[in-house]
Amino acid sequence: MSTSGAFGVQILSSGVALPQRVVTNRDLESLMDTTDEWITKRTGIRQRYSVDPAKGENTRTLGLNAAKQAIERAGVTGPDLDLVIVATMTPDMPTPATAPLIAHALGTNDAGAFDLSAACSGFVFSLNTAAALIGSGAYSTVLVVGVDLLSRHVEFSTRGRSTSVLFGDAAGAVVMRRCTDPAKGLLAQAMCSDGGGATHLYIPCDKDNMLCEDDDPEAFPLDQLRMHGQQVFRFAVSKFPNLIAETLDAAGLGPNDIDHYVCHQSNARILEAARQRFDIPTEKLRVNIDRYGNTVAASIPLVFDELNTEHLIKPGQKVMFLGFGAGLTWGSSLWQF
Ligand code: UT7
Repeated sequence: MSTSGAFGVQILSSGVALPQRVVTNRDLESLMDTTDEWITKRTGIRQRYSVDPAKGENTRTLGLNAAKQAIERAGVTGPDLDLVIVATMTPDMPTPATAPLIAHALGTNDAGAFDLSAACSGFVFSLNTAAALIGSGAYSTVLVVGVDLLSRHVEFSTRGRSTSVLFGDAAGAVVMRRCTDPAKGLLAQAMCSDGGGATHLYIPCDKDNMLCEDDDPEAFPLDQLRMHGQQVFRFAVSKFPNLIAETLDAAGLGPNDIDHYVCHQSNARILEAARQRFDIPTEKLRVNIDRYGNTVAASIPLVFDELNTEHLIKPGQKVMFLGFGAGLTWGSSLWQF
């Protein structure tokens, strides 16, 4: 855990982009052996969005649309950006990365641009990276995008029901800028991993290169997400509260000092367990998984954008961003607004 450098850093704005197609739990009932009741009770999810590639919806276009909304709301233009970071585990292609394509489409002037792959922790890791680079004085105006299309890696069938009901496609973005008030910006942060838990959540691409000996490469198509749901659940419910406690300790704060906990939306039950552990009021920990499902790197900016557009984030407030997911990875980013 460490705090940022000599300059202040502000999150100026946010933006989101969603595919046109909404897929409800009832829609899934017609595709696989599942029920609205099972999905709602186990996860809190009622619907999710899913891209239609034939309509030109992909990682690049969704990320770009969220970015355009964020930079317009920030009152900046493409040439003002000197760095673009895209958090994604579902780029359209292995290379080029998504970030240079978005930077180019926004008309930046040779801005640095790279993708950051840390699954559901990707947006938090990107916020921390951007804040450190701005705080050090190296960069001034940075766009961070979180975008993921897990519909590409799940099967909408009874065989794939344990993962396909959970995930949704979306993009979210923020614009961050250096400011003269050094009190604004990161108060504490954490970026952690445990590759020993990689097999709990992974997408194998090659039958000779499976991470888990117990996983039968013939039993399920390659390029599809394999998840050991209960292990992930146990990891999340134990790690998530520890992460909150460690981040509060690092900043010398208590749970009540935080105005908003902006959390990765993987399961409403996981969020509720953390909320109860710290006695956090419901209005301080927004849950929107019912409308979007788990959107991986996009889930945190989707929550932040809701709070932001409802004018609930105010100057002087403290906001803790929290993410955890495949890798295994987990991280926090505690901000003074
Ligand atoms: O960003 C991180 C992403 N991943 C997560 O956060 C996942 C964390 N894990 C979870 O949220 C939960 O483990 C799940 C919601 C995925 C599953 O809930 P669970 O209570 O752990 O269920 P389970 O895996 O133990 O499965 C219970 C039963 C099984 O049937 P049997 O063996 O008891 O007959 C499954 O086959 O539920 C069955 N099942 C379903 N039934 C209806 C699994 N998926 C479905 C489904 N609809 N979609």
